[in-house]
Amino acid sequence: MVATAIVLVSALVLLSPVAAELQRVQHSPKEDGSLTVLAVGDWGRGGQYNQTLVAEQMGVVGEKLAADFVISTGDNFYNDGLPGDNDTAFFMASFTDIYTASSIQKPWYIVLGNHDYTGDALARQSPAIREVDSRWTSVNKSFIVEADIVDFFLVDTSPFVLKYWNESKFDWRNVAPRDTYIATLLQDLDDALAASNATWKVVGHHPVSSGCEHGNTTELREHLLPLLKAHGVDMYLNGHDHCLQRISSVDSPVEFVTSGGGSKAWAGKFKATTDKMEFLYDGQGFLSMELTAAEARLAFYDVSGAVLHSWGLAKSAPASISNVS
Ligand SMILES: *[C@@H]1O[C@H](CO)[C@@H](O)[C@H](O)[C@H]1NC(C)=O
Ligand SMILES: *[C@@H]1O[C@H](CO)[C@@H](O)[C@H](O)[C@H]1NC(C)=O
Ligand SMILES: *[C@@H]1O[C@H](CO)[C@@H](O)[C@H](O)[C@H]1NC(C)=O
Ligand SMILES: *[C@@H]1O[C@H](CO)[C@@H](O)[C@H](O)[C@H]1NC(C)=O
Ligand SMILES: *[C@@H]1O[C@H](CO)[C@@H](O)[C@H](O)[C@H]1NC(C)=O
Ligand SMILES: *[C@@H]1O[C@H](CO)[C@@H](O)[C@H](O)[C@H]1NC(C)=O
Repeated sequence: MVATAIVLVSALVLLSPVAAELQRVQHSPKEDGSLTVLAVGDWGRGGQYNQTLVAEQMGVVGEKLAADFVISTGDNFYNDGLPGDNDTAFFMASFTDIYTASSIQKPWYIVLGNHDYTGDALARQSPAIREVDSRWTSVNKSFIVEADIVDFFLVDTSPFVLKYWNESKFDWRNVAPRDTYIATLLQDLDDALAASNATWKVVGHHPVSSGCEHGNTTELREHLLPLLKAHGVDMYLNGHDHCLQRISSVDSPVEFVTSGGGSKAWAGKFKATTDKMEFLYDGQGFLSMELTAAEARLAFYDVSGAVLHSWGLAKSAPASISNVS
């Protein structure tokens, strides 16, 4: 593992990244040391396409499991993100007025999707937005949520995707040029993963591996997947594909989990993946994660709150999966 990390570092030095530290947010777990997190992606449509139903069930499950916080896997506002940090009416209509249950009046840790990049991509980090709804926590395009037993690495994946750089509508302020941005991000992530003692997780927007409409992201398989493998990351959690799916890597312990069912679904649209598909649902819903130092229990829910699939991961043996139902 150390040798692999060194190889990666020297490869990156050739691109001369200016390493910085990823920003961190601390979130204390419950008194017993456990933590419950909900994850939803691809949602902001003013309640349309069952966004409201998914939100209601997040409230119900959040209450039952005592959710500590929510993670958004990106594509927060359709079709073109927020036009500016002054467009609070649209922000409220797709976020504040939708996720109203008391159990999810908790911090929402936000990563950007490609649809957020075709609006004002800097609005998401604006204090003006946080003033409207203090749950909204998007301290930087990439950042780490540290919660003792788990570190969530929220990774800004849109700049990796080459085809976006050929489209004029992307807001690359503070990002361009691409090569420097992704080299720096990978270096920072490599450092942060190496220093993390927690039960690791990674959150991005684009899938590394997917069997839904968009399929896997070649650029992430090339650049990000080696880091996940080198650092023994347990799970890569993403949105982008509008489905719920769980995939096992065929050559490493990492699991690829898609929670992109926050509103419009990719009903009936599939792609091939050469990794092992464990579960795939092409409708709407969300994910819950109940974490302790020893194990993780995960579940997908549909728009009526029914559990579609649940599984467990044991930390003592990261590769083993117990009690699949
Ligand atoms: C966001 O993170 C980047 C990279 O770590 C850093 O260079 C930048 O200063 C941060 N931005 C803010 C607003 O803190
Ligand atoms: C809402 O969810 C139901 C149940 O999954 C589904 O049949 C229906 O097509 C969905 N509606 C929309 C607009 O996606
Ligand atoms: C936001 O600000 C921009 C630029 O000042 C302006 O053109 C736009 O109309 C404003 N939007 C709202 C909803 O106030
Ligand atoms: C971007 O555009 C250039 C020039 O038109 C083309 O050669 C290249 O293949 C395009 N790249 C992608 C990833 O679409
Ligand atoms: C992680 O573990 C190392 C080695 O056991 C220790 O030196 C370091 O302080 C730990 N870091 C944190 C953040 O707990
Ligand atoms: C990823 O997608 C590409 C293009 O569809 C495909 O050639 C490749 O086999 C896929 N890789 C995996 C691991 O699924």
